[in-house]
Amino acid sequence: MESPFKAEILKGKVALLTGGASGIGYEISLQLGKHGASVAVMGRRKNVIDSAVEALQSHGIPALGLVGDVRKRDDAVRVLESTFKHFGRLDILVNAAAGNFLVPSEDLSPNGFRTVIDIDAVGTYTMCHEALKYLKTGAPGKDSSVGGTIINISATLHYTATWYQIHVSAAKAAVDSITRSLALEWGTDYDIRVNGIAPGPIEDTAGFSKLLPQEILSKIKANAPITKVGQKWDIGMAAVYLASNAGKYINGTTLVVDGADWLSKPSH
Ligand code: HXC
Repeated sequence: MESPFKAEILKGKVALLTGGASGIGYEISLQLGKHGASVAVMGRRKNVIDSAVEALQSHGIPALGLVGDVRKRDDAVRVLESTFKHFGRLDILVNAAAGNFLVPSEDLSPNGFRTVIDIDAVGTYTMCHEALKYLKTGAPGKDSSVGGTIINISATLHYTATWYQIHVSAAKAAVDSITRSLALEWGTDYDIRVNGIAPGPIEDTAGFSKLLPQEILSKIKANAPITKVGQKWDIGMAAVYLASNAGKYINGTTLVVDGADWLSKPSH
């Protein structure tokens, strides 16, 4: 689908995306790149990273792939350093890495709970923390009045309560809280905008097939006729908007991109 934004809206910017080689993360990489950004993608699987870089480059996007796990602080430091060395600056950090599986709480071990908190919440914080020195005003490659921006991919699971998602709901609640706290502190001190995007059900993603198996989908359709399934493109456009100057006064908010899906949740 064609973008309503100008192609050069992110010209000269450099973006690093965790989980940026597949699913929603890849679509955001692609859209930031199509709007002028150079893109580094971080993920655990080398083959997935390699094919994402190849695909981005086939669109003429300067792209770099870096293997790393957001649960490891050393990986975060190394990946940020490599991104900076390769592109000479960092303007946009997108935290899209996430872990998830459907499981009733009584079958979820504390370690299973911790694993998802570690990836989604601690991983997001770790990447933000290690990226600060590159994103803040006056960082190498930047002038003293313009800071970078962070986008944390969240969810709407925790706005109410979601069956078999206690771990992810808790993790994404923490992510939203991190978004607000960093927006307050770093927005004030370093002109860094920190926002989130909370996607609804997005077709053709791991989250969709893993978390919305057919029997749950039919139940949702029967009970909530307003639910519309979104496309990865919808999330890509939200990211371009937030990352660009169009969103320059938006800080500390999580933009829900779900076609009003979560409003229908009590009837599920
Ligand atoms: C119960 C499970 C489980 C399952 C893992 N565990 N899978 N428990 N049901 N299906 C438990 C394990 O038993 C273990 O606890 C602990 O979790 C760690 O498991 P590992 O397999 O060692 O973890 P790891 O190899 O690090 O893998 C992480 C993962 C995995 C999160 C478990 O699923 C993963 O890597 N996922 C990444 C890709 C992904 O999920 N993408 C979807 C994102 S969609 P014990 O106690 O046994 O040691 C998304 C959408 C959000 O985020 C919202 C949408 C609406």
